[in-house]
Amino acid sequence: MAETQIFLLPGPTQVPPRILRAGSAPMVNHRGPEFKAILTEMTANVKKVYQTQNDVLTLTCSGSGGLEASVANFVNPGDKVIVASIGNFGERFRDLAILYGAEVDYIGIPWGKPLDPQIIADKLKADINQEIKAIFFQHNETSTGILNPVKEIAEARGSHPALLVVDSISGMGAAELKTDEWGLDVVIAGSQKAFMSPPGVAFISVNERAWEVQAKNKNVKYYFDLAKAKKSLADGQTPYTPAVATIYSITEALRMMMETGLEAIIAEHYFRRDTVRAAAAALGLECVAKEKYASPAVTAIYLPEGMTQQQIVKPLREKFNTVVAGGQGQLKGKIFRIGHLGYLNILDLVAAVSALEICLLDAGYKLELGTGVAAMQKMIYKQYC
Ligand SMILES: Cc1ncc(COP(=O)(O)O)c(C=O)c1O
Repeated sequence: MAETQIFLLPGPTQVPPRILRAGSAPMVNHRGPEFKAILTEMTANVKKVYQTQNDVLTLTCSGSGGLEASVANFVNPGDKVIVASIGNFGERFRDLAILYGAEVDYIGIPWGKPLDPQIIADKLKADINQEIKAIFFQHNETSTGILNPVKEIAEARGSHPALLVVDSISGMGAAELKTDEWGLDVVIAGSQKAFMSPPGVAFISVNERAWEVQAKNKNVKYYFDLAKAKKSLADGQTPYTPAVATIYSITEALRMMMETGLEAIIAEHYFRRDTVRAAAAALGLECVAKEKYASPAVTAIYLPEGMTQQQIVKPLREKFNTVVAGGQGQLKGKIFRIGHLGYLNILDLVAAVSALEICLLDAGYKLELGTGVAAMQKMIYKQYC
């Protein structure tokens, strides 16, 4: 394997050298003043990305741990909750809610479409006794490359007391999410996506309404008890030994993000998305997402008729050191996914499309080499020159 790859997974993402160096700093006492300074700085900056004044807690676990924490802390056994799924990760929320004893009203939207906020509005209107305690959904569904209309879903909640619990693991820092302005009660993010850092840390924001619910919560939890995490954070600590090196990395990543500015970062993600979609269109390939809901973090593209995932994903990696993702769940074997979140050079995407064209041609797909690349170059020329 080459030491560097054109690494275009929708997470983990590339970790730039500056962040890698930060992650290799010597250990410090995680109960001492050095770590307190780091955790305090990281938390203040992560709140800026979240656009929130709420508590943001740092958990040492992958993103799924953050999802589990959101269920364990805000759902009681027997509680009625809505889980609105638009793909693979929505199903994870459903499975967790069932495991923790919730009575789940599962809304399974066909994969490739966003959640229609009207569905939520209608469900809540019909809930005259206000028995629904929480609504779980994704900001960005990584398996399909669909961005949900979170603001409109939040508006559909209106004055109903159900908590809005949002999985923004692959959305945070890549697409806009205004936690406070939109009234999102609990939001989960992960280190290995737009935060350009190694895996190992999940974030979870909790507002006052959600803390009130948490205080009365009776579900089983130990490691993921968020009240303990809040108490420790006040002392600049975490309840258990944290992923110190990953936290060094995220702290540095956030410094980089603050230097660039959130608005510019998000605009860049949209530009990357648009170039990949332009290349797909030029090559006659169909994207899973329609333009309006297309994710700025990842683009899912249907494989041409009769072609297998292995005819694309494998040679891209073996011949060109280019790593893209295959499909998940019901889209396994039907699509491939190009991640474009976090740290990358726009020319990484051009190189990947160049390699993709060669692999497609080799697999028997009819195309003129350079078609997708030229479509991207024209956009890049306009943007950069
Ligand atoms: C939207 C979304 N939710 C949840 C997860 C699960 O996160 P992890 O794999 O870090 O546990 C992912 C991971 O890709 C994701 O993209």
